[in-house]
Amino acid sequence: MAASRRLRVHVRCLGLLVARLVCAGRPAPRPAALPVFGHLADVGVGKLANGFASPPHVRMFELAQSAQGGEVMELQMGAQEWTVLSSPRAVHDAFVVKGGDLAGRPMVPSMAVSSGGGQGFARERPDAGLRSLRRAAFTELFSPAQVARARVELDAEAEALVRHLLAVGVVELRPALRRCVCNMVVRYAFSARVPYATEPSDGTDERVRELMETADAVWEQLTAPAITAADLLAPTLAGATHGELRKLVARRDALLRALIDERVAGGAASGVRGDGDMLDRLLGAGLTDAQVLYSLVDLFIAGVNTVSATLEWALLLTARHAHAQATARRAALEPGADLAYVRALIDETLRFKPPLLLPRMALRDTDVLGFAVPAGRVCFANSHALSFGAAQWTEPERFRPSRWLREERGLSTWGEDAPAGAHAFTSEERAKFIPFSIGQRSCPGERLARAELEAATLALLRAARWDAVGTVDLREAYSLTLVPQSSQALRFQPL
Ligand code: HEM
Repeated sequence: MAASRRLRVHVRCLGLLVARLVCAGRPAPRPAALPVFGHLADVGVGKLANGFASPPHVRMFELAQSAQGGEVMELQMGAQEWTVLSSPRAVHDAFVVKGGDLAGRPMVPSMAVSSGGGQGFARERPDAGLRSLRRAAFTELFSPAQVARARVELDAEAEALVRHLLAVGVVELRPALRRCVCNMVVRYAFSARVPYATEPSDGTDERVRELMETADAVWEQLTAPAITAADLLAPTLAGATHGELRKLVARRDALLRALIDERVAGGAASGVRGDGDMLDRLLGAGLTDAQVLYSLVDLFIAGVNTVSATLEWALLLTARHAHAQATARRAALEPGADLAYVRALIDETLRFKPPLLLPRMALRDTDVLGFAVPAGRVCFANSHALSFGAAQWTEPERFRPSRWLREERGLSTWGEDAPAGAHAFTSEERAKFIPFSIGQRSCPGERLARAELEAATLALLRAARWDAVGTVDLREAYSLTLVPQSSQALRFQPL
C-alpha cells in the first residue's frame, strides 16, 4: 500500500518535472559577449557615446537579425539578464498570451528612489494596490469623460504654445514643448500653469514653477548615462551614486505634498483649486495618501517627456517633409476638420520614431514562442524592431503618413470604432504598432496622451508654418524614451 503511494508520488513528481521542462522551453539564442559587461559592452555603448555607434535599440535589432540572434534572444546587460523580443508574434505571445507571467516591472535603483520604492504605478509586481490604481486610472482619472472635460484646457494650452513660438520666431523646440506639456499635465492635475517668458507672469504660484523645475531635474538624473550605468552595472552601490537624485526627489515630493494638503484643507487662497480635475478625482477615489502622491509623481515621470518627445519628432519630421506638413494643414483647416490625416501624421511619427517600451519582468518561469524565460528575467520588447520589420510594413524606412489611410487603415483606432473600409487585423498583427504597449501593464495615460498630441498638432497646423533653420538632424538618443540627439531650433511664421 505504502509502496504504491510512493510510486504514485514519484510518477506525479516526474510528471511535474516533465511539464516544467516542456513549459520552461529551450534556451533562446544568445549572441557572443564579453565577460562581466556582457552585451552591454556592445549594445550599450551607443547610449554612452552618442553618435559614434548605433544606439542600443538599433544595435539590438541588428543582433536579432544576425545569425547569432533571433526574434527571441538573450542578452546580458551588465548585472541583468534580458530576453529581447523583436517581432509582433513574440510580443503578442509574451504580453497577451502569457500576459500574466510577464506582468512584472524590474525596479532599478533610480526608479526605486523616484517612486518611493514602487508606491504608484511603478511596482515590481501587480498587487491589490496596483489593481485599484489601474482601475481608478481607466474608469476615473483618464476616462473618456475626464479627458473630454479637459479638452478645452488642453486646446487653450496648445494655443499658448503657438503664440509663444510665433512671438519668438526661431525657437529651440525642446524647452518650449516641455513647458507646453508640463502645463497641460499640471492643468489636468491641479488646474494650474506656469506662463512662458513671452507671457505676463502675474499671479503665478511659485511653488508650481519650482515643482516643474524640480521634476525636470529629476528626469535629467533618471536619464543620465552615469545613473543608467550604475543601475545596470553596480546596483548595490546605487546608495552612493544616487545622492543628488534622492535630494531632488525629496524636494519634488514635499512640493507635491504641500499642494495636496492645501487641496484637502480647501486652501482656495493659493489660487490652486480644483473643479473636478485629476487631484479632485484622486482624492475621491478611495486611494491611500501614498497612492495619491505617487500617481501625481507618475504623471510627471511617465506623462511629460513621452508626449513632448513625440511632438518634437513630429515638428522635426514635418519640417523635413514639407509635403506632409502641407497636407495635414489642409486637412486641419477644412470646414469640420478631417482629423484622419492629422491622426495619421501622429501615428506615423509614433511608428517612425517609436517610443521605447518599458521593460517587463517575468513573475514565474515561462516561455515565449517556446524559448525559456525564467522567473525574474527582464523582458524587453524592442519597438524599433516592430516598426521597421520588413515583413510587417510596406517601405518601413519611408516616413509616409498616408499608409494609415490605406494599407494600415483600422490598425490605430484612437479608441473609436474602426472606420468604414478598415482592414481586419488579428490581435497578433496589431502587435506591430504598440506605442502604448499592450496587456496588463500597458500605458494607462494613452487617452490623455493622444488628446494632448492632437490638441497641439491641430493648433500648430491651424496658425503657423515651420521650417528648418539649418539641416534637420533626425538622429536618435536612447534614454527612458527616444529623443532627438540634439535639441534643435525651427523657424515659425504665422499663416
Ligand atoms: C506619447 C505619450 C506616451 C507614450 C508613448 C507612453 C508609453 C508607455 C509605455 C510603452 C508604457 C509601458 C507599458 C507596458 O509595459 O506595457 C507606459 C506605462 C505607463 N504610462 Fe505611458 N505613455 C505616454 C504618455 C503617458 C501619459 C500622458 C501618462 C499619464 C497621464 C502615462 C502614464 C503611464 C504610467 C503610469 C505607466 C506605468 C503603468 C504600469 O506600470 O502599470 N503615460 N507608457
